[in-house]
Amino acid sequence: MSLAGKVAIVTGAASGIGLAAARRLAQAGAAVAIWDLNEAGAQAAAADLVKQGHRAIASRVDVSRRADVDAATQLAREQLGPIGILVNNAGMSAFTPFMDITEELWDRIMTVNLKSVLLCTQAVLPDMLAAKWGRIVNVSSSSAQSGAATMVHYSASKGGVIAFTKSLAQELAPTGITVNNVPPGFVDTPMLRESLKDKVDMIAAASPMKRAGKPEDMAAAIAFLASDEAGYITGHTLSVNGGRYS
Ligand code: NAI
Repeated sequence: MSLAGKVAIVTGAASGIGLAAARRLAQAGAAVAIWDLNEAGAQAAAADLVKQGHRAIASRVDVSRRADVDAATQLAREQLGPIGILVNNAGMSAFTPFMDITEELWDRIMTVNLKSVLLCTQAVLPDMLAAKWGRIVNVSSSSAQSGAATMVHYSASKGGVIAFTKSLAQELAPTGITVNNVPPGFVDTPMLRESLKDKVDMIAAASPMKRAGKPEDMAAAIAFLASDEAGYITGHTLSVNGGRYS
């Protein structure tokens, strides 16, 4: 599988799944723009890729702000070329009993997890339409498939990402652009460690494969959906969960 000559943007790529996806896409030959709120982390990730001989740049981007997204898209276009691959991975999670969900928290989660997918996709779509080729891979969540107590806000935002994926896939189907999503369930990243703390090892032991997912497990699926080989797959939810379906 080669992504030589392609330019990819990966959001939330300073850490976890996004970082692994950026590395995997670069290994396959893509030039990669690493976007994150964490500027130092994004710079370090890009520097690491450049050191290994890949083309990469970093931008400090809040994906929930159109001005940030548009400016960073323009920079990526100028420095790397027209954008062919977008991985909408940046997100925030929260555990909140339902009656404690404030309007402010609801709006923040919807904005970071769902509106960001709209903003980033609208920013890059003109390049993909012009090239008659594009790959959009959204990182959703298994909580949108199974539901999750104290995650009504988060699950609803990620359910929105799945519905967004299916609807845009149909709208863009004649254009050579595919839109798919990968719903992580239980992947050992800083976000998971922060949310579940000492429960991670216990949940891993109770999982069918007796381990948590690795960011690289997600990255492999993301890279496949970003490839030419996946050109007849669109609107799909590719579960990568080690057999853990709830
Ligand atoms: P992580 O915390 O390791 O990485 C997330 C990255 O996104 C961080 O570098 C963070 O700075 C960045 N980010 C957050 N808000 C941002 C914003 N507004 N603009 C730009 N960057 C921002 O987390 P992880 O686990 O790698 O999560 C990646 C995606 O996977 C998220 O969308 C998350 O909801 C989803 N996910 C992860 C699961 C897991 O088990 N780790 C389970 C289900 C979904």
